[in-house]
Amino acid sequence: MIQVSGLVKHITDGHSNKNILDKLDFTLEAKQSVAISGESGSGKSTLLHILAALDNADKGEVKVAGLALNTMSEMQADKFRKKHLGIVFQQFNLIDCLSVWDNITFPARLNGLPIDQYHSDLLKQLGLSSHKNKMPANLSGGEQQRVAIARSLSHKPSLVLADEPTGNLDDNNSQRVTELLFGLCKTLGLTLVVVTHSQKVAAFADTRLVLERGQLQAVLNQSTEQVTNQNTSKPQNNVSI
Ligand SMILES: Nc1ncnc2c1ncn2[C@@H]1O[C@H](COP(=O)(O)OP(=O)(O)OP(=O)(O)O)[C@@H](O)[C@H]1O
Ligand SMILES: [Mg+2]
Repeated sequence: MIQVSGLVKHITDGHSNKNILDKLDFTLEAKQSVAISGESGSGKSTLLHILAALDNADKGEVKVAGLALNTMSEMQADKFRKKHLGIVFQQFNLIDCLSVWDNITFPARLNGLPIDQYHSDLLKQLGLSSHKNKMPANLSGGEQQRVAIARSLSHKPSLVLADEPTGNLDDNNSQRVTELLFGLCKTLGLTLVVVTHSQKVAAFADTRLVLERGQLQAVLNQSTEQVTNQNTSKPQNNVSI
């Protein structure tokens, strides 16, 4: 589903170049869930944006669903996101001028899909029924985050990318929403990539990746509890999940 090889992303800091993603290699199988953790500034959101074709790698190759993201035009990238991706942004990025319901159903309508019981269930399961007709500006951070999660699942995309999807939720809501997100992706056969600082959330994933200063430090397969340390696994640095 996701093939990343030799991925480098750099920024120019004054006169020097700094790699914020530094030669990442990994492969994620379809229908699997992966949690990415790592310190603030380790490159998690940057990686997610590249996987969403919202940002470009400077070197290396990134393929999602067989499509090479580096060589896509803007129009192809739009089409790819519309059809294949559900994204929960760290800052939610809801559409301010649309109600909760219209935000949630927007990706489905964009893809010409029917609005049905599935969407009503999403609204209900995320505890948003009483907020259905409200505008995003009138919601709390946690409520906006739950709208963003529902929206990412609206069109049953093949890949869901979620950046700190429980960062604004209390413990109860975090547990409920995490179960729903991982459960729905498993049931529907969607691939899920979640960036999270929470050990509880990461424990739901099939596999965990740890980023440290732009480098992949460790991969833990949670079903086998097998850990691959990326700095000591020689010579094969490719990780198949
Ligand atoms: N547009 C940019 N210009 C300059 N530096 C940037 C830019 N975007 C990100 N960075 C830097 O790249 C590094 C990685 O940022 P990124 O947002 O990917 O980190 P993160 O792991 O998501 O952090 P957090 O957990 O705080 O969300 C940081 O050092 C950040 O300061
Ligand atoms: Mg981030």
